Amino acid sequence: MKTESNNQRGFWGSRLGFILAASGSAIGLGNIWKFPYIVGENGGGAFVLIYLVCIFVIGTPIMLAEFTLGRKTHLNPVGAFASLKPKSAFISIGFMGVLAGFLILSFYGVVGGWTFAYVVKSITGSVLSFTTPKEAGIFFGDFIGNTGEALFYHALFMSVCIAIVLRGIHGGIERACDILMPTLVIFLFLLMIRSLTLDGAMEGVAFYLSPDFSKISANTVLIALGQAFFSLSLGMGCMITYGSYLSEKENLTSSTVYVVMFDTMIALLVGMVIFPAVFAMGLEPAEGPSLVFSVLPVVFTNMPMGHIVSVIFFTLLAIAAITSGISLLEVVVAYFIDQRGWERKKAVLIVGAAIFAFGIPSGLSFGAMADVKLADMTFFDHVDNLASNYLLPLGGMLTAVFVGWVWGTQNAHAEIEKHENKFKFPWAQCWEFLIRYITPVAVGIVFLAKVLP
Ligand code: TRP
Repeated sequence: MKTESNNQRGFWGSRLGFILAASGSAIGLGNIWKFPYIVGENGGGAFVLIYLVCIFVIGTPIMLAEFTLGRKTHLNPVGAFASLKPKSAFISIGFMGVLAGFLILSFYGVVGGWTFAYVVKSITGSVLSFTTPKEAGIFFGDFIGNTGEALFYHALFMSVCIAIVLRGIHGGIERACDILMPTLVIFLFLLMIRSLTLDGAMEGVAFYLSPDFSKISANTVLIALGQAFFSLSLGMGCMITYGSYLSEKENLTSSTVYVVMFDTMIALLVGMVIFPAVFAMGLEPAEGPSLVFSVLPVVFTNMPMGHIVSVIFFTLLAIAAITSGISLLEVVVAYFIDQRGWERKKAVLIVGAAIFAFGIPSGLSFGAMADVKLADMTFFDHVDNLASNYLLPLGGMLTAVFVGWVWGTQNAHAEIEKHENKFKFPWAQCWEFLIRYITPVAVGIVFLAKVLP
């Protein structure tokens, strides 16, 4: 097993490039598709507040821990744990992460394919002829149930991820994110202005910003914590992998703060786009997962300049999905490059094809294989459930335990302070306390709450 970095790895070209790429990983379908619908289902403003607490108290410390592990070892998740505690059971945290990356991308690629399809369908205008979410929902259901079309767009999405990751860290991932991330922010601001200037938009703003604490239950807190994890790309070594391409000079603490702020800002902005528009059109915010694909098309159909707005929106969704998809692919690829000594090209092509192939039953779970169910869940549901509800929280909790207790906060501290970077009082003490006590316990509770009936 190779545990030293080899020349197939690469480095980020600049600190900004790294921050954009890590933000690109974090900002994805989780922010634009999932965040608004769970806010809508869980009572608006109060949920947003709890989500923010989870981001800062639990997500931020884990992200710093992951970046530190990556930068210390310059290795993929398996190599990172193996080089710090050789031959220990902790290596399985790394394997779980690589497996989770494989599984998540296999279904994330399916949804990524839907976003590509909706870019095309909004350009041709075919998603813009609905007067009720029900009609738009039927159209959406027909599309995702159509084997040929769903597979075609799934393959297209995976091919774009493969093409970018083939070009490596600096020339591929970083360059793509340098262009795509600023585009996303500009588009989002344009959409927000459009949304806020609709008649009746302020009702949506009120729903979004005024907390109604009667809607909050223990379950809401669990949902918020799970979302914080998924949105920040934590718990499977994605940020270990991205951190592994950093040079010793870079400041890990401020990079963490930027990525967290950027991810959170985008999620909050997306809410400011969606809720004013949904309320202005008199639609329901608690529509669930179909909010983006069946409520928004109705909003676009009825809004002035709706055609161009819909093209912008779905393009943005596709961009966000791509920059996250490549980060998932890179985790698995980095494992084969570092641990198995494969060339990047071979690793990307084989891993990419395998993930696509494994994702096919997920892609068919809404049509040809919709009735193939085990315990009332489709293949798609099972893969999503296994990765998101088991592997990620477990991985996150064990990573916190590893850094807090096994490798030790002293060692982490020393890595963070390399090259005159200071991890000052009281932040260092705060982080140490959170990563050793609060984070493992909080994530452990979420995990148990999901595992126990
Ligand atoms: N964070 C991304 C999103 O919000 C998804 C994602 C990418 C992810 N890499 C990850 C989630 C690693 C968990 C772990 O859509």
